[in-house]
Amino acid sequence: MNTNNDSNGLNLSVENNPIFSKIFSLEGKIALITGGGSGIGFDIAQCMIAAGATVIITGRREFALQESIKTLGKNAHYIVNDVTELKKLEALVHEIETQYGYIDILVNNAGINMKKPALDVTDEDFDLIIHTNLNAVFSLTRACAKRMIERKSGSILMISSMAAYYGIDRVVAYAASKSGVEGMVKVLASEFSKHNVRVNAIAPGFIETSMMKNAMSSDPDRMNKALNRTPMAKFGKPEDIGWAAVFLASEAAAYVTGVSLPVDGGNSIGF
Ligand code: NAI
Repeated sequence: MNTNNDSNGLNLSVENNPIFSKIFSLEGKIALITGGGSGIGFDIAQCMIAAGATVIITGRREFALQESIKTLGKNAHYIVNDVTELKKLEALVHEIETQYGYIDILVNNAGINMKKPALDVTDEDFDLIIHTNLNAVFSLTRACAKRMIERKSGSILMISSMAAYYGIDRVVAYAASKSGVEGMVKVLASEFSKHNVRVNAIAPGFIETSMMKNAMSSDPDRMNKALNRTPMAKFGKPEDIGWAAVFLASEAAAYVTGVSLPVDGGNSIGF
């Protein structure tokens, strides 16, 4: 084995290194992942399980959730839940903590998009997106954070978007919701840090999921525009977000809070 000590005497070799294997581990942790039955949420679940966690995925369609946990294996469980039913979120958290144990990691992944020119967006359209992507995120976060703060331990992840970073046309409500999430991350990280609860966001670039296909498939100009400003010149895969989520939820990120981490092939800094 090739050992390599840094100036502090820390053993930096990777192979068989107990520090390295533990620092990214989620062994013994319980993660609640909303919308975990498909797309990015499903891959976050897969990556967290690979890192040792037990995951509880939620969504609205029982059949889809059942199929997902067949693939995810014995460390995955599901509960049917619509995040927009805010009054049921407290009960959801109570049910999980009674049945499976304390939630160590919350991943607010469930979200919806709507592509329409701003002037065609009705108040109802706007409300629907904000309610799902922002109000529900706050309510569920509050229910989990209350308990995490009591236990003085927890990690909360939000899924933001490039739409909160720069002006993407025809997603006004979605951009407003994700910008709200970005603001929430900073405030909650400020309030919760003293209780050892961390709050971070991942801002995915363009990731190949059904949401992205819906937005892009009939709009090649938009697809080319997204690709052309992505220095890595390819779209991301859901697992790219999954591994970033493992990092942010793990001890390796113990001093990371209040950030929004772009996982975007450079899209946010591309010209
Ligand atoms: P997706 O449409 O494949 O998955 C979204 C999941 O959320 C689905 O499982 C859906 O059933 C669930 N969901 C939606 N409304 C729900 C509700 N009311 N209650 C419970 N579950 C609900 O989309 P994707 O791409 O996997 O998106 C996941 C997250 O990533 C979203 O927050 C999205 O805004 C965000 N995102 C995705 C990007 C992409 O390129 N795919 C880029 C930036 C952000």
